[in-house]
Amino acid sequence: MHDTQSVNKSRINIDALDEIWVFGYGSLIYKVDFPYLEKQTATIEGWERRFWMGSHDHRGTPEKPGRVLTLHPVKNVECFGVAYKITYEEFDHLDHREKNGYLRELIDIKLQDGRTIPGVVYIGHADSPAYFGPSDIAALARQIFNSSGPSGENRDYVFDLANALRRYNVKDEHVFAIERALNTLSI
Ligand code: SIN
Repeated sequence: MHDTQSVNKSRINIDALDEIWVFGYGSLIYKVDFPYLEKQTATIEGWERRFWMGSHDHRGTPEKPGRVLTLHPVKNVECFGVAYKITYEEFDHLDHREKNGYLRELIDIKLQDGRTIPGVVYIGHADSPAYFGPSDIAALARQIFNSSGPSGENRDYVFDLANALRRYNVKDEHVFAIERALNTLSI
């Protein structure tokens, strides 16, 4: 496994931020296992969700990795997420949770309250050893269907995320298409 915890510690000067916000676009939307001071829906521009990241630690194993989300840069798109205002102390936990190839990035977050402020986003880039890249929906669904790890079944990552997006009235065809494909495999 490629562990990004130590590199993340020194990547971004979080001390320079007036408020610390972390933007979640995947499991951070529906699995909130850290304390926060405030929570708002939010968007970031120029990124889309894709199941292009391998999961060797949460939803798969080193021998049989699963698939989880990362963000892919695309012009003129907006990605919905949930932003949490947190204290610096939470980064030990977050860096550990996102250690499999994700790097902290500082990206402008448009908060529901109308403000746009820099916040931390965990992204798995194409040069990460844990990055698998594009695959067609059927292949992604098959890999997800057949994977599980310490955090549970890989398919539940998709189902929990799709349900959360629906609760927020957000349509994400990439996620929903994989959900539909998984449902045919489950029959
Ligand atoms: C995120 O949710 O923002 C990062 C990716 C993940 O942990 O699913």
